[in-house]
Amino acid sequence: MNLINRPRRLRTSPTLRSMMRETRMSPSSLIYPIFAIEGENIKNPIASLPGQFQWSPDRICEAIEECIQAGVEKVMLFGLPAHKDEIGSGAWAENGIVQQAIRAIKAKYPDFYVITDVCMCEYTSHGHCGILCDHYVDNDKTLECLAKIALSHAQAGADMVAPSDMMDGRVAAIRKILDDNGFINIPIMAYSAKYASAFYGPFRDAAGSAPSFGDRKSYQMDPHNSREAMLECQLDVQEGADIIMVKPALSYLDVIVKAKERFDVPLAAYSVSGEYAMIKAAAAADLVDEYRIMCESALSIYRAGAEILITYYAKELAQAMKKGD
Ligand code: PBG
Ligand code: ZN
Repeated sequence: MNLINRPRRLRTSPTLRSMMRETRMSPSSLIYPIFAIEGENIKNPIASLPGQFQWSPDRICEAIEECIQAGVEKVMLFGLPAHKDEIGSGAWAENGIVQQAIRAIKAKYPDFYVITDVCMCEYTSHGHCGILCDHYVDNDKTLECLAKIALSHAQAGADMVAPSDMMDGRVAAIRKILDDNGFINIPIMAYSAKYASAFYGPFRDAAGSAPSFGDRKSYQMDPHNSREAMLECQLDVQEGADIIMVKPALSYLDVIVKAKERFDVPLAAYSVSGEYAMIKAAAAADLVDEYRIMCESALSIYRAGAEILITYYAKELAQAMKKGD
């Protein structure tokens, strides 16, 4: 039969299919989140995130070693402090948990790329991402703290900082303090479009950061909105964000598509704890093929337009990408 168009013609062999790929993924785009916990000789399995651990600073290099073996070159560091207080002062302590972890990693692997999550919820006794005024998170007071946290991370040796708090003006505040202290080349990856999402559930167990009252809806975005996400991205770019991020990823692919069209800065997506935990649970129940679901989920995020992917599957994905899956 004389058909003019036969799209199947370009799908006839693996060699041809591999040439036709519109989306190509590389391990260099992956960031692996890790949790540092105060103490010694700790490698604590996180019940809500099978396969993930909390590491004390003296053992955290084991996690880095695993990354290097798998072909992952960057981590995003979260901290679990020994003590919390009302203002989250542990977050900018010179010997705070993230600061210790950075120094431990850099002492052994000076070239390994360390990004730090900049937020207050792991450090405040109330679990909110900022300074409270009654039951409201005070934006402008929080900015001063976030700036101090980012600076202390840079001073401890962090390569990049990633504010996840969703306060207004935080990118500008962080850029200023970094510049004033000579850290002009420390990039800011802003959690720009971060939604008030139920997909963070397992993370809050892992990082001990659930709010003790209320929720985060007065600072994180309403999942009903996508135009507002463009405003958040635009403000962050204007304030000097080097990279913008959409979070979560899978339920927000439309936001990724839009951000990719609109902004001329690199775009990251964070495939969050709930996305990982759901695949793990479905695989454990024998409902899906974990490997294929992992690959297809990641692929969809790249196809939507993300150039950088933060994921608990980073090590497994790096291996999969090397195989061409
Ligand atoms: C801290 C922070 C959270 C995540 C990253 N940074 C939790 C939250 O905002 O409640 C979520 C990460 C994940 O779920 O994997 N603000
Ligand atoms: Zn927070």
